[in-house]
Amino acid sequence: MLLEGKTALVTGAGRGIGKAIALAFASQGCDVAVTARTQEQIEATAGEIRAMGRRTLALACDVADAEGVRAMTEAVLAEFNVLDILVNNAGYACFKPFAELTAEEWQRTLDVNLTGAFNCIQAMLPSMRERSFGRIINVSSVAGLKPIADQTAYCASKFGLNGLTKTLALELRPHGIRVHAICPGAVATQLARDAMPQRDMSEWMTPEDVAHTALFLATQSDRATTDVVVVRRFGGVPLGG
Ligand SMILES: NC(=O)c1ccc[n+]([C@@H]2O[C@H](COP(=O)([O-])OP(=O)(O)OC[C@H]3O[C@@H](n4cnc5c(N)ncnc54)[C@H](OP(=O)(O)O)[C@@H]3O)[C@@H](O)[C@H]2O)c1
Repeated sequence: MLLEGKTALVTGAGRGIGKAIALAFASQGCDVAVTARTQEQIEATAGEIRAMGRRTLALACDVADAEGVRAMTEAVLAEFNVLDILVNNAGYACFKPFAELTAEEWQRTLDVNLTGAFNCIQAMLPSMRERSFGRIINVSSVAGLKPIADQTAYCASKFGLNGLTKTLALELRPHGIRVHAICPGAVATQLARDAMPQRDMSEWMTPEDVAHTALFLATQSDRATTDVVVVRRFGGVPLGG
């Protein structure tokens, strides 16, 4: 088992990519706490983790709410004692032409996708710094690497998340903490279905494809690191192509 004895917290783990990452980690011996806003969905994820014989916690929390995140992370540390891996995966997408985008939609996108990661990292960092160990995996997007029409707020949030990732990777290196970003292309999930209801998703990636990449980052040797990983559907166009 690649993650035997490790602990992780995965945000947005009630469904989609976050759930797949939580289950992939648990399948490798990791104890995994899960969070999202819908208690019923995170309970279901936790039930599957428990069935694998791993410890878990299902804590409802909105990552945009700094106070709620503080309470949630305190509960995780009280249960697990230490946290080895933090996966910032919770995300929000509102795709529409810029002229139609409201200030609330813009703000909510930044609050969830960028400040949400900031809130979770700030809350977990002191305990990682104390141990001089930690892996932080931010689920970003190819929208954080290239412009996509009608996705201004989403692109701004994911470009920001990539900036946060790279800067923090540099800053935390002396403290033994690695910071990574995964930039997936199109994945068939509820977020994508809600944001792009007209699209055919039959050839899109599955959440498990992204979870496989997260597992790679979480288990990379201590000598090596990978800053940003792009994982896209095989039938799509290579980035920059
Ligand atoms: N699907 C794609 O094509 C694609 C591509 C690239 C990147 N991504 C990124 O992948 C991540 C996961 O998205 P997904 O596609 O797996 O979507 P999804 O299936 O809709 O899952 C999103 C998860 O995040 C939770 N969540 C949403 N807002 C939250 C908040 N404010 N606080 C806490 N949890 C929240 C949701 O649960 P609740 O609603 O119950 O809170 C759910 O568990 C996102 O960061 C997204 O930007 C997705």
